[in-house]
Amino acid sequence: MKKFVLSLAVSAVLVGVVVPAQAQEGEESNPAIVHRHGIYTIVGGHMKAIKSILLLGFDAPKDVTFHAQGIADAFSHMGNSYPPGSDKGETKAKPEIWTQGEKVKQLGGNAFAAANDLAKVSQGGDKQASLVAFKKLGETCKACHDEFKKK
Ligand code: HEC
Repeated sequence: MKKFVLSLAVSAVLVGVVVPAQAQEGEESNPAIVHRHGIYTIVGGHMKAIKSILLLGFDAPKDVTFHAQGIADAFSHMGNSYPPGSDKGETKAKPEIWTQGEKVKQLGGNAFAAANDLAKVSQGGDKQASLVAFKKLGETCKACHDEFKKK
């Protein structure tokens, strides 16, 4: 019994840490902001991993495809990331993002296509070709950040 109560207490702590029931004091709670930051963080993590492999020599050349596919998959789950009202909260999105939907869609589509392209190119194992595709992908991120993200 004592063990059971202890394990309950431990689970409560774990659940509390891993899955907070609601946003903590001072933490973002606008669902669209939390969602898009979550997706961008995933995408940014994959970009770092690819950089470590292609530019810094981390020894996992076959993983480039996985990370590029991960970026494409994450983008395909962006949903409507900038619905009305999602300017209320901690956001670095410029106000124009809520009025230039077509442009945002186009820039998002470019990044998605570039991620898919890197996934495909990297399957061939040609590091130089992968590097070219990776740089193109990075440029699509920058194109949208320059247009719609505050510094
Ligand atoms: C269609 C536009 C667009 C594209 C494409 C785009 N981003 Fe962003 N990104 C934004 C905007 C706008 C923000 C700021 C969002 C906010 O703060 O609400 C952002 C924020 C981020 C953040 C910060 C997230 C946070 O928690 O503050 C990272 C990291 C990021 N982007 C990485 C990337 C990478 C890597 C790519 C390319 C693979 C990319 N983004 C492509 C528009 C874009």
